[in-house]
Amino acid sequence: MSETRIVLIANRLPVRRVGGGWETSPGGLVSALAPILRERAGSWIGWTGEAGDAPAPFVHDGIEQRPVPITEQELEDYYLGFCNGTLWPLYHDAIRPPEFHRHWWRPYVEVNRRFAEEAARAVRHAEIAWVHDYQLQLVPAMLRDLRVGCTIGFYLHIPFPPVEVFARMPWRRQVLEGLLGADVLAFQTRLGRHNFSRAARRFAGAGGTTRELSFRGRTVHLQDAPISIDTQSYAALARTPEVQERARRLTDQLGSHRTMILGVDRLDYTKGIDIRLRAFETVLQRHPDRASDLVFVQVAVPSREDIDEYAQMRTDIEQLVGRINGTYGRPGRPTVEYSYGGLPPEQLAAYYLATDVMCVTPLRDGMNLVAKEYVASRVDNDGVLVLSEFAGAALELRQALQVNPYDVDGVSDALWQAVELDPAEKRRRMAAMRRQVARHDVFAWARRCLEALGA
Ligand code: G6P
Repeated sequence: MSETRIVLIANRLPVRRVGGGWETSPGGLVSALAPILRERAGSWIGWTGEAGDAPAPFVHDGIEQRPVPITEQELEDYYLGFCNGTLWPLYHDAIRPPEFHRHWWRPYVEVNRRFAEEAARAVRHAEIAWVHDYQLQLVPAMLRDLRVGCTIGFYLHIPFPPVEVFARMPWRRQVLEGLLGADVLAFQTRLGRHNFSRAARRFAGAGGTTRELSFRGRTVHLQDAPISIDTQSYAALARTPEVQERARRLTDQLGSHRTMILGVDRLDYTKGIDIRLRAFETVLQRHPDRASDLVFVQVAVPSREDIDEYAQMRTDIEQLVGRINGTYGRPGRPTVEYSYGGLPPEQLAAYYLATDVMCVTPLRDGMNLVAKEYVASRVDNDGVLVLSEFAGAALELRQALQVNPYDVDGVSDALWQAVELDPAEKRRRMAAMRRQVARHDVFAWARRCLEALGA
């Protein structure tokens, strides 16, 4: 790779405020890109997560941070509204009805313009502007119109929906034109790339194929590049005596004779948390004599709590947990251990190591990094992954027990199969998945994307 400077543009900055200062946010994207940006004197443009004025640009951990302000009203209309009330459900197969409001669309355009203008100030001719995710789909064309002369890349972290679903959006042409401002558009999967190509030809008048589109006299390259994690650091953490000890303590606390099933998700309706709990309840109904031998641990990480759909989902899940515990648990010994909150990395690693079965059942997911984190953490080659076929990760983690998350009986069968799986078979499957995530880590992903951008 050459040393072209890169300006990364994402809704969120890779830092968050703690006390009077800033700390780096956890996450694969940040850990993969931080060294590259640091090496190339790059900048990161994004929102601090707080409404109101933005601080002046500053350097954190060797990377220039350029905060973009978002007002209280824009938080409502751009972030909670158009991003997460329109685009998020629409792009996830309209699992919840997307809402279309003109008073959400206008702030989406305005905030995208603000990001594009900030990017234009930070990036120079022949450098690379790399725009990320559904919040900023108009930025590529806006940046091109500002005639900076940089190469423009765009990466979509979530699925691009089938054309029949995408077609509902009143501003479909504007969104496509926004994206087509990029030189390279990258998706998690081949399906996303194909869906986009069809939509661009149907609604934006683009010509070409699923690999290359011609639009307004330019060529737009389409790529699929499944994102991944920093595999080695997950494995290294799982090997530390501290995490091993925590995992042992967890097993003791939960009851060492019990089989543990684990779910870890942002509390989002796309993740299928309710379905997996109902599938677990079905297991208990079918095998009541084994109920006291099983424990389901669900960690739900708070997210977008100001959106009604999310608040409702939380209530529904907590009721379900209460119902299962009321029937199968006893005081001090719940059958479902549920927590609403985040986990520090060492504790998460201990959960991954301690569990017998990991249950990842999204109804639709761009990738799902929890599935990859689990595999990377199983340095002992033990454990079983039950994985939705509608997660991008299902294409790579083929040795998981794959399920249709809409089929409660099917998920229940898979959970039972996982509980009873032969140890040698477990090891065979886990070893194969571990080879996959070792080879295809987030650093390989970043290299692949940046090579396509000529970096
Ligand atoms: C998904 C999206 C990201 C987003 C994250 C957390 O992974 O692809 O763009 O940052 O969810 O959601 P939030 O709304 O808190 O940024």
